[in-house]
Amino acid sequence: MTKAVLLCFIAYSVVNQLINFHKAMQDGTLPSDLLNNLTKGGTPIKLDFVTTAGFTFPPVIFGHIHMAKTAGSEINGELAQRFERVCGHKGYSYDAIAFNQRVGKVMKKADDWHWSQTLKTKDLISKSYRKYNRGRVHSTVMDEIGYHDCDWISFERQASAWHTVAKTAEWPLELHLPCRDPIDHLLSQCNMKTRNFNCTGTSLTEEVNACMLFADRFSDSLNLHANVTLKCFNPIPIEPYLNYIGQFLQPRRVRGQYVHSEFNRPRNKTAECIWNSPEKVKQEVIKIMMKMPYYRFCDRCIGSKDDLLAVKAGLRLAQV
Ligand SMILES: *[C@@H]1O[C@H](CO)[C@@H](O)[C@H](O)[C@H]1NC(C)=O
Ligand SMILES: *[C@@H]1O[C@H](CO)[C@@H](O)[C@H](O)[C@H]1NC(C)=O
Ligand SMILES: *[C@@H]1O[C@H](CO)[C@@H](O)[C@H](O)[C@H]1NC(C)=O
Ligand SMILES: *[C@@H]1O[C@H](CO)[C@@H](O)[C@H](O)[C@H]1NC(C)=O
Repeated sequence: MTKAVLLCFIAYSVVNQLINFHKAMQDGTLPSDLLNNLTKGGTPIKLDFVTTAGFTFPPVIFGHIHMAKTAGSEINGELAQRFERVCGHKGYSYDAIAFNQRVGKVMKKADDWHWSQTLKTKDLISKSYRKYNRGRVHSTVMDEIGYHDCDWISFERQASAWHTVAKTAEWPLELHLPCRDPIDHLLSQCNMKTRNFNCTGTSLTEEVNACMLFADRFSDSLNLHANVTLKCFNPIPIEPYLNYIGQFLQPRRVRGQYVHSEFNRPRNKTAECIWNSPEKVKQEVIKIMMKMPYYRFCDRCIGSKDDLLAVKAGLRLAQV
């Protein structure tokens, strides 16, 4: 009697999961609680009934210009779990599941969810490069692998690295530049550097410059390159971009769970003087930032036809 009940329950669960999978397939997404339920203990989800025979390659290779403090690691990490041929400084598709399972174990053991824990996850890359691993791939390793089997590339390198890829790429590059509200982005960088932006400091230019992190990952030269098209997007929250790019990437046959980690200490907006400063100070800070190529480009791009999330994706693909 109890056996029959148990069997019924198992059959019910299996059918229920299949229904959920099919629903997810139709939506093109998996509900996050289903994802969480099924990946408890790090078990990857099998999506082996998904047929990708009809997958159409987009007519470009996508590149993600990973500006500091624009949720780039999460975007890279999530995409590597969900889609094929993601080649990122913060992880590749082909080894993402096993890497995240190891990271999860290391973090759980230390009961520490700071990003520095992910660097304690040892593998063959970390044997060659200290503080690097399959979740933080050294640029030499990326170059050695090459970019011929990549649909989505993410770099945390100087802008010129894209010129090198564009020279050998079989397809034109479409580069995606994340753009946040400039003042919010500035203060996020100050926080990362544990600097207090001083609104009454002697030089606002010096205050701004002291917070900047890797602004040279963008350069106007990218906008002028014959084989490169530049697009922009608001990266926070990350889901709209994941949904957008998900239309053009091939879903993985097996998909795992990205293990989140904390990157920096939480911001304390009450302690940030700029929000309570006179409008004049904010305008001055923005004026200083607009002298930098990255912020100037973002300012022109967000809301324009080159803003990925401001235009209907279908329309845009027709234009490519
Ligand atoms: C996930 O698990 C929770 C708690 O066990 C349950 O309430 C929920 O319905 C499950 N979600 C799915 C999509 O199976
Ligand atoms: C652009 O691509 C073409 C064809 O792939 C290549 O011959 C050319 O050198 C590239 N231009 C630059 C500036 O990299
Ligand atoms: C900000 O800069 C001014 C002028 O240099 C200085 O007097 C003040 O103490 C600074 N404030 C903070 C919080 O460091
Ligand atoms: C945030 O900053 C304010 C003003 O400096 C301070 O009073 C408060 O204690 C801070 N809060 C936290 C959580 O650190």
